Amino acid sequence: MDERVEINRRLWDERVPSHVASDFYDVDSFVAGRSTLAPFEVDEVGPVDGKRLCHLQCHFGLDTLTWARLGAETVGVDFSAPAIDAARQLAMRIDLADRASFVVSTVEDARATLDGDFDIVYVSWGALIWLPDLRRWAKAVASLLRSAGFLYLAEMHPYATALRWGEGYGGGSAAFFDEPDGTYADREAVFEHNASWEFSHGIGDVVTAVATAGLRIEWLHEWPSTTWNLNDDTMVRREDGMWSLPDSTVPLSYSLKATKP
Ligand SMILES: C[S@@+](CC[C@H](N)C(=O)[O-])C[C@H]1O[C@@H](n2cnc3c(N)ncnc32)[C@H](O)[C@@H]1O
Repeated sequence: MDERVEINRRLWDERVPSHVASDFYDVDSFVAGRSTLAPFEVDEVGPVDGKRLCHLQCHFGLDTLTWARLGAETVGVDFSAPAIDAARQLAMRIDLADRASFVVSTVEDARATLDGDFDIVYVSWGALIWLPDLRRWAKAVASLLRSAGFLYLAEMHPYATALRWGEGYGGGSAAFFDEPDGTYADREAVFEHNASWEFSHGIGDVVTAVATAGLRIEWLHEWPSTTWNLNDDTMVRREDGMWSLPDSTVPLSYSLKATKP
């Protein structure tokens, strides 16, 4: 394993209990039936009833289980064993363990770890920034899809991450080492492992990696809203639960669909 990926795994392992208990993820309302998906994700993916859906970097499974609630047969994949344990417990708690399984694996090793092909590979919200090699990621995605199956990606726009960190657009998959305190789900939390490697992938890097893996890009949509507040006091929460900047058309997220020929 790339040493940087191993450093990130330690960071993620340690954050799982804090995330499960956080207001940010609000597990109680999820258990009570709340969907964790952005409205446009559900519209753009379309009906999933009876479809096999692989969720890469599923964290502790909220989005994976929301797809299962919508009728998909889901497999959530994450390299963090504590995250996968928490996801399995949650699946049992909401009685969906028969339709939602969870596997410990890096994205890079997912093909070797999982059985069968998928109709949909789903990747979302704060996933790509952790991956050093997008071409390897896209190759793994393509290898998991059946013919005519598709990748659906919903991510933070690099423009939004530039706003958040004030570091400019970046891109070129540049690597950044950081040791931030706390976590986005609980700023005050204290952890032992804060070291992390993040990678600044531009829109061009993503599109090029997906096309190079042999997937046909159907569309890429840019959105002036996102699923979480980027620690920006000026952001407002809309009625549909998404966050946006008042009077701004700056893209904060994007979605992409790419099909395996
Ligand atoms: C911000 S979460 C994204 C998940 C989801 N959007 C959410 O908010 O719950 C990023 C996830 O990627 C996982 N991860 C990071 N690098 C990975 C890798 N190389 N292979 C598999 N999982 C990875 C982490 O364990 C974490 O659960």
